[in-house]
Amino acid sequence: MLILGLETSCDETGVALYDTDRGLLAHALFSQIDIHVEYGGVVPELASRDHVRKTLPLLEEVMTEAGVTAKDIDGVAYTAGPGLVGALMVGATLARSLAWGWGVPALGVHHMEGHLLAPMLEEKHPEFPFVALLVSGGHTQLVRVDGIGEYKLLGESLDDAAGEAFDKVAKMLGLPYPGGPQVAKLAAEGDSDRFDFPRPMVNRPGLDFSFSGLKTFTLNTVDDCKIDGVLAPQDRADIARAFEDAVVSTLTIKCRRALKQEGLKTLVMAGGVSANLSLRAALKEALAKERAEVFYPAPQFCTDNGAMIAYAGAQRLAAGQADDDGAAVRPRWPM
Ligand code: KG4
Ligand code: ZN
Repeated sequence: MLILGLETSCDETGVALYDTDRGLLAHALFSQIDIHVEYGGVVPELASRDHVRKTLPLLEEVMTEAGVTAKDIDGVAYTAGPGLVGALMVGATLARSLAWGWGVPALGVHHMEGHLLAPMLEEKHPEFPFVALLVSGGHTQLVRVDGIGEYKLLGESLDDAAGEAFDKVAKMLGLPYPGGPQVAKLAAEGDSDRFDFPRPMVNRPGLDFSFSGLKTFTLNTVDDCKIDGVLAPQDRADIARAFEDAVVSTLTIKCRRALKQEGLKTLVMAGGVSANLSLRAALKEALAKERAEVFYPAPQFCTDNGAMIAYAGAQRLAAGQADDDGAAVRPRWPM
């Protein structure tokens, strides 16, 4: 089955074609970073408008690249939520219209299921069952995955998501949106031994997270270090490093705990924060000691993209799971 996937939940327009026999045929992405950067974050109305502008040109691009025509496409999958309502509606209406026009089934996919399954796009991909760490701008979750659609939530953040904390710390340090990669870059120049930041909730049993206290601790440290309202360059780098170290070690501790609890040896990491190189290195090292293995998507499929939606949709559409929800979207949607 050849499936078209559309992702428009936030600030990236992603379009991809996935074939259940031949794999990923083509994918294209347009990032709206330049549109939102002057506002310091995503402006929902501007995001929706730009999805309207970009989705069809990207669709033409991937169809040309893959050498397919409309009659070759067997189904359309799109992100139905969670995300920004207007942005989601652009993808949903377009996907439903195309599917109706082409006479093929359509399916609304959960954005986090897309992230969760993104490592399956790699040649060396994990086998079920595994534990997934989903770390994005809106979610921090540990999920046991027994198969497509067989998900058990093991733990999640009780307040801010890890990516959100990265973005807020970036603002405190005067770094531009999107903050995560900028904090990571600055942290690489920082000294690990300078500050000792808390590792939230690691001494309590369970698999939940909390990042809001760490954020406040970071803000207090920033205020303490400022001289005449200015933070010295080395202080900024050392704070970024201390914050990143705290997030990385908290996530690592909880991942090991989750694998132990579930008796599993495979961890999958996905979502924007899984692009973080310190987190990748720490997990790889920690799991190697326990003969467990960690899988993650290629960097281009860690953040939002159409390929993960095409893949998730293809698995479900191939299993006959089309839906007829109309173009309804679900801005808040538990997985
Ligand atoms: O998955 P994603 O693209 O969008 C959501 O579904 O939220 O994740 C975006 C989040 C942002 O918070 C961004 O700052 C964070 O992922 N992020 C990173 C890195 N790259 C992206 N955080 C830390 N280190 C990175 N290298
Ligand atoms: Zn995402």
